[in-house]
Amino acid sequence: GLQRELDRLEKLFTVDTEMLKKITSRFGEELEQGLQEDHQNIPMNITWVTSRPTGHEQGTFLTLDLGGTNLRVCLVTLAPASRPNIMQHKFKVPTHFLTGTADQLFDFISSSMQEFLDQHPNHARGWSGNAPLPLGFTFSYPATQERIDHGILQTWTKGWDVKGVEGNDVAEMLRKAIQKRSLPIKLVAVVNDTTGALIASSYNDPETIIGAIFGTGCNAAYMEQVSHIPKLARTRSELNSSTTESARLLDDEGLMAINCEYGAFDNSHAVLPRTLYDEIIDQDSPRPGEQSFEKMSAGLYLGEIFRLVLVDVRDREGIFRQKTSHEFISAGKHGVSSEAKEAKEDRKGLDDAYALDTEFLALIENDHSPDLVESRLRFEAHLHHPQSLAPISPSHNELLFCRRIAQLIAIRGARLCACGVSAICRRLGVNKGHVAADGSVAIKHPHFKKRWEQAVAEILDLEKGRVELTSAEDGSGIGAGVIAALTLKSDSYNG
Ligand code: BG6
Ligand code: GLC
Repeated sequence: GLQRELDRLEKLFTVDTEMLKKITSRFGEELEQGLQEDHQNIPMNITWVTSRPTGHEQGTFLTLDLGGTNLRVCLVTLAPASRPNIMQHKFKVPTHFLTGTADQLFDFISSSMQEFLDQHPNHARGWSGNAPLPLGFTFSYPATQERIDHGILQTWTKGWDVKGVEGNDVAEMLRKAIQKRSLPIKLVAVVNDTTGALIASSYNDPETIIGAIFGTGCNAAYMEQVSHIPKLARTRSELNSSTTESARLLDDEGLMAINCEYGAFDNSHAVLPRTLYDEIIDQDSPRPGEQSFEKMSAGLYLGEIFRLVLVDVRDREGIFRQKTSHEFISAGKHGVSSEAKEAKEDRKGLDDAYALDTEFLALIENDHSPDLVESRLRFEAHLHHPQSLAPISPSHNELLFCRRIAQLIAIRGARLCACGVSAICRRLGVNKGHVAADGSVAIKHPHFKKRWEQAVAEILDLEKGRVELTSAEDGSGIGAGVIAALTLKSDSYNG
């Protein structure tokens, strides 16, 4: 029964030190390949962010953040000797837009910016007189950039599939949407969220080595020496005259921030210990064969891996047969819990894809209530049986089983996440420093940091915590603002 399943899954999801080291060394090779040539597994995208901030950057900037949990519009003010000031609004991108059209998406973005400006007319007008507000656009998807205010979407990731954007310049699309509404905004930089985290954190913390996101997706950015980016030398000679300016100014001694896009690591399936569940996730995704690494480790997928395991075990072992728990029935009967009623409407079938998210997984893993009653109520509130629509109410044994599975999946995710960053550390020859991280998994999963630091220490044979996970300063606010400031200041900017 369940014990046999547990033994099987323990084996399947455990990644030991030796395996971590093997994955990391392959990771190092793929990072290098991406720097050598275009169109490798890991794209190693050139960002045109060519210096670390001094901490003296100043000005007022609008920033826009697309690609994490929310669309966010911020007004960031950087001033000498004071903390950055941020004013922000979050907008929920309607789910059906994620698979809709480019016009729909960009119109939604520009209308959100308009709403923001309308709500803060004095700030927006007051900063500059008549000049348009400079905008830093955090676009958290892989993009090819010929210059900093340009970005051709290579492929959608994280389940997005908006038609008509891949292969096109998102900067141009955004500019058009801004023009259509005559907004007083000028796009100056397109930034990845990892680059934003790197630069925001470097603004205050000189020990920052890497900016990383462990959220809906997973990825990292770091500063590479220009002389170690062979494909850039080629780009420099090939770029046409309008862009040679920025390329020419780069000398071999210079630095370039690289957005690795390492969610695409091992797309050729050479080393990652993929399970049947990982294969299903991939096949059922809008882009099978892409983002192999991300699909095993990022927040978008952890809850789904958990669900797939439960479905499989249910089908083979017949779990979840118990009737609804006492607590739930009585709560309903006495009309006490409007929460329970609401939850009923939100309840999803155990067979519905993406019915469970990472938050659910974290809750199940960290339930300290007597008899795991919290977990049981959560199950009942969130999940129903496919035919009867009755809530799923696991027995105590089943809950213990679920907790262990949730733990195994989260541990595997954190340990795999350690491989990418360790490979960058090894490449740079560093064995201490700060990895500035943002994203729902890094911030909200209570054990992520500990597990991740432990795995990095195992891989690099270091004392735990020498490579430390720090919380990134707001990358898409401060980071994109600082990058916009660096851009306006740089000699090569001719926008
Ligand atoms: C946010 C950053 O805090 O984290 C975004 O502002 C980033 O730029 C996001 O994309 C990533 O986390 P998640 O969990 O929202 O994907
Ligand atoms: C995905 C995106 C990448 C982003 C990451 C974290 O991997 O492709 O651009 O940095 O998610 O949000």
